[in-house]
Amino acid sequence: MSAVKGLVLSGGKGTRLRPITHTGAKQLVPIANKPVLFYGLEALVEAGVTEIGIVVGDTASEIREAVGDGSRFGARVEYIPQLQPLGLAHAVQIARDYLAGSDFVMYLGDNFIPGGIAGVVEQFRRERPDALILLKQMPHPERFGVAELEGERVVRLTEKPKKPRSDLVLVGVYLFQTGILEAVDAIKPSARGELEITDAIQWEIDHGRRVTPHVVTSRWIDTGKMDDLLECNRVVLEMLPEFRDGKASEDSKLLGKVILEEGSEVIGSTIRGPAIIGAHTKVIDSFVGPFTALYHHVLVEGSEIEHSIVLENTSIRGVSKIEDSLIGRDVVIEKSQTRPRAHKLMLGDHSRVSLS
Ligand code: G1P
Repeated sequence: MSAVKGLVLSGGKGTRLRPITHTGAKQLVPIANKPVLFYGLEALVEAGVTEIGIVVGDTASEIREAVGDGSRFGARVEYIPQLQPLGLAHAVQIARDYLAGSDFVMYLGDNFIPGGIAGVVEQFRRERPDALILLKQMPHPERFGVAELEGERVVRLTEKPKKPRSDLVLVGVYLFQTGILEAVDAIKPSARGELEITDAIQWEIDHGRRVTPHVVTSRWIDTGKMDDLLECNRVVLEMLPEFRDGKASEDSKLLGKVILEEGSEVIGSTIRGPAIIGAHTKVIDSFVGPFTALYHHVLVEGSEIEHSIVLENTSIRGVSKIEDSLIGRDVVIEKSQTRPRAHKLMLGDHSRVSLS
């Protein structure tokens, strides 16, 4: 039997994360200072899946630059260009040559499962159903693909039903035998104009194939929205081991788990963990509260920030207090020095600001 390959989907427009995704891939938004996609790649490698094809779209060059040939994850990565985001089943169609008859795990690149997927990949290898799908009980199932079960059998899957008939939703990880390739060719585009993997799996059910459910009991976070990203950041910061490769001045207070990455500096500040201060980031005369991740080359001076993610090269000066925020790269936020002390904004398209 050939090895189980990985198919990681890393295209898509990320409209729910604008404006961050106007200039960057949603799969590269850092969670505790590491792109969310990297957690997925690590989970695959941990499950023994080391041959990985990444389906890429408009942000292909950025993803390639971040992941490279995969060697640092212990994987062999190849890239599969998807010229238009025509759906998850379309991604499987264009990966046909790459898959070359192998069983595979399809992993949506912005999904996060803290417990990893080793157990479920093992179950798939052991039982070899035609498809093994991960399900999770969720509030608002209408936002996802929804599954109906009869005992240990999946009997119906519906993509984003208006009136869901169960609260079991499809998690963005699927395991397939090669028969799915026949199914993705047989289905028609959905109302949103995409070839849905949900419909392809339903096609397999309708043709008498064995589709096994695996209900996930640990957490699952689809990081497509800001609130979910912040939650994911919170979960990962709680799990990470502490290390301190940066410097903190004597008059600074580091309380609880505070991770200082290489070259970071904390001067005259209080950091209440769990929090991570990225490489070459400076925190001066400031308060950084729990569940904050400052990425590399950030400056926070004379400010207070908590429960937020700040991307690289951003500076925040003289601002109190920022909370529940996702702040992009190269952003400048500062207290106005000239009168009138009004809010003076230059915000990108689709920005969201709540002023106190
Ligand atoms: C896709 C699938 C959906 C699944 C979800 C998980 O939705 O179509 O069935 O529940 O991923 O993240 P999308 O994110 O494309 O709207």
